[in-house]
This record gives sequence, structure tokens and C-alpha cells, in this order.
Amino acid sequence: MDPKYQRVELNDGHFMPVLGFGTYAPPEVMEKCKDAGLAKSIGVSNFNCRQLEMILNKPGLKYKPVCNQVECHPYLNQSKLLDFCKSKDIVLVAHSALGTQRHKLWVDPNSPVLLEDPVLCALAKKHKQTPALIALRYQLQRGVVVLAKSYNEQRIRENIQVFEFQLTSEDMKVLDGLNRNYRYVVMDFLMDHPDYPFSDEY
Ligand SMILES: NC(=O)c1ccc[n+]([C@@H]2O[C@H](COP(=O)([O-])OP(=O)(O)OC[C@H]3O[C@@H](n4cnc5c(N)ncnc54)[C@H](OP(=O)(O)O)[C@@H]3O)[C@@H](O)[C@H]2O)c1
Repeated sequence: MDPKYQRVELNDGHFMPVLGFGTYAPPEVMEKCKDAGLAKSIGVSNFNCRQLEMILNKPGLKYKPVCNQVECHPYLNQSKLLDFCKSKDIVLVAHSALGTQRHKLWVDPNSPVLLEDPVLCALAKKHKQTPALIALRYQLQRGVVVLAKSYNEQRIRENIQVFEFQLTSEDMKVLDGLNRNYRYVVMDFLMDHPDYPFSDEY
């Protein structure tokens, strides 16, 4: 990142401005960025349904958010938020789709390890894939844009294989059954903030 201009250079040589508005910026601020050509689209992250509705119902709203990036994986499948987003034509983007990097600053070390889940492992065996690929494919097939972060070349190559196989509707139901509304990234130090998003059901 270029610290002076707050932008990153992409692989194709283009630059992308980096804009972050913290917990909550009024929609008109984001709209000004789009009008000025600084942003192609407006997206939000970690917004619950109520916060999305607050934006969508804002009088005079010019551009609605095109996506909402939230934690989403088989233990927290966000089905209600996903249905809501789909009904409003907002793309749900899944972060922590592999159960996070389990960084001790953010994640309870005693939390369950998603990729060791026996059901996920059994499906991986059935499809001759890895548990990570099953977790990623699950999201694709339910219309979620899924992020998979890896610093390892082999695993980056592995993860792109997500497009090479399909889960059956029965597999999808089994994966739905793993949901336990378990959130890895709780950000409990923000719980007192009036816009803390994770106290609502979804
Ligand atoms: N908006 C937000 O509030 C928010 C919060 C958290 C994260 N995010 C974003 O979401 C993205 C992903 O988050 P994340 O990195 O925490 O979680 P993640 O994608 O669920 O997990 C990444 C971890 O999975 C491992 N991994 C990747 N591919 C694998 C594979 N095929 N098999 C086994 N392990 C594999 C990685 O290890 P190796 O690197 O060793 O492969 C890494 O430890 C990041 O870009 C992050 O910035 C956003």
C-alpha cells in the first residue's frame, strides 16, 4: 500500500483507492465517494439486518450497498441474513469461511476447529476433496461470494479447485445441519459500542 495516497497497486498495474469508514459512515459520505469516481460500488461489512434496513430505508438514498461481508461458515451459516440480503439484491460475502486463522488476538483458542469437523471430513472423503474445499463449495452453491485466505501456494492452488466439483442437495442439507450460530470473531471489546452488530439475532 502506498501510505501517502492510501491506494494499492493491483497485479495489472491499476490502482485501487483504499477507503475505510470505521464502524459506520453516513451513506451520503460513501455516495460522495462513488460520485467522485473514488469507488465503483459501495459495500459494507458486519452489518446486521437492522443496520442494513436502516441504510436501505434512508430517505433520498442514492446508492444502496451492493454487498455485506460477514463471518459465514457451516457453524454460522447466516441463513436468515442471507435470505434478507438476497431479497434486497445485496451479495453476502463470507469471511472466515474456513474457520479463521485462529489468531489468538481475535479467536478463542478453545473454539471448535471447523476444518476438523467430522461431518465436513466425511463429505470431503466422499467427494475426494479436502474439508476446506467442501466449506468453500457450500457457500458457492448457496449464492454466497466466499473468501479464502492462504499464505501457502499449494493451498491457494487447492482452493481454486472449488469450481471443479459439486455437492448434492443432500450434502447441502447435511452441511446446513452443522449450523450452531457459532461466531469465531466476536470482537467483544466493542460490545459497548452502540453500533455493535452481533447482539441482534441476525
Ligand atoms: N470484515 C471483517 O470483519 C473480517 C474479519 C475477519 C476476516 N476478514 C477477511 O476475510 C478473509 C479471510 O479471513 P481469515 O483469514 O481470518 O479466515 P479463513 O479464510 O477462514 O481462514 C484462513 C486460514 O485457513 C487456512 N487455509 C487456507 N486454505 C486452506 C486449505 N485449503 N486447507 C487448510 N487450511 C487452509 C489458512 O492457512 P495458510 O495461510 O497456512 O494456508 C489460514 O490460517 C481475510 O481476507 C480477512 O481480511 C474480514
